Amino acid sequence: MRLGAGMDASKLQITKTKSPKEKQAPKDLIFGHTFTDHMLTVEWTAKDGWAAPQITPYGPLELDPSAVVLHYAFECFEGLKAYKDESGNVRLFRVDKNMHRMNTSAERICLPEFDGAEAAKLIGQLAKLDSAWIPEGRGYSMYLRPSLIGTTAALGVGTPDKALFYVIASPVGPYYPTGFKAVKLEATDYAVRAWPGGVGNKKLGANYAPCIKPQQQAASRGYQQNLWLFGDEGNITEVGTMNAFFVFERNGKKELVTAPLDGTILEGVTRDSILELARERLPSADWIVSERYCTIKEVAEAAEKGELVEAFGAGTAAVVSPIKEIGWGEKTINIPLQPGKEAGKLTETVNEWIGDIQYGKDEYKGWSKVV
Ligand code: COI
Repeated sequence: MRLGAGMDASKLQITKTKSPKEKQAPKDLIFGHTFTDHMLTVEWTAKDGWAAPQITPYGPLELDPSAVVLHYAFECFEGLKAYKDESGNVRLFRVDKNMHRMNTSAERICLPEFDGAEAAKLIGQLAKLDSAWIPEGRGYSMYLRPSLIGTTAALGVGTPDKALFYVIASPVGPYYPTGFKAVKLEATDYAVRAWPGGVGNKKLGANYAPCIKPQQQAASRGYQQNLWLFGDEGNITEVGTMNAFFVFERNGKKELVTAPLDGTILEGVTRDSILELARERLPSADWIVSERYCTIKEVAEAAEKGELVEAFGAGTAAVVSPIKEIGWGEKTINIPLQPGKEAGKLTETVNEWIGDIQYGKDEYKGWSKVV
């Protein structure tokens, strides 16, 4: 941690917009295309530390064309959501986890760390100020995007001595244009998302742009996303926008499986929440909850033998997203859904568990905090 003044929410200065924007009907929202009236910015310099936070009208940033973020990808970000509960309170889900992860990302790329609790308070202030933008109802929320960028104006490759933490907010419905419907993934081994010793477990913008080309290729074959494989064995890692979960049933026992946190997998907050709830709520006589690699071959063989029960992805943006098909080369792996439904049984249950907590119906361990 570099020193200087810490981020201090009590120093927040607010300048409200004089021309509020028109709001869209929730059903017309396209994920991440609409932004609220305000944004939060906090500048940092190596000399003075964090400056007084500012909430100002939403608008362009002024950056020197030589700013290191634009040349060397000094950028990390987070995604979290603000929800409106039935009493009209604004709630944030596990923001402490996001702030912790953002600090680990920042540390990895030599951007300044910050006090996560103070940043969480500031994000809460932004969510409250723009709360009229939070669409109501299950599946709707306000996506908050904290970003941290290096702003030093210099082309030498080195440690940034200036940075900007900023947060924008976007009212959202479902991540996929198809809604809460099962998605099709393409098992991808012709490109690699992350590798041991790399930065696949950090939320860096630089991890995302290289995934677009393979995503386009998968889309041209009718798949929404890539299911990233790694290594000669074809270990299933994650989806890039979500962690992946599979349910197998063998010898009368079900197993919920997701990839282990070995440094190549994004440490998803939704992933962590699902694992904790599953371990606590699924009867251990019938269930095993495993963090282990399964290979694409294991999934294909299990599907053929009727041992693959269901699969889903989980992430902040996508929440819980059922998976109905995986394309793997010439093979199509069909994943069962409940008759007449777009999801498996556990997928539905987990989606309810998470939703009940996020929308304040289940006050589980204070995960969803009123701001
Ligand atoms: C999230 O789930 O918040 C993500 O960051 C995924 C994606 C929108 C980049």
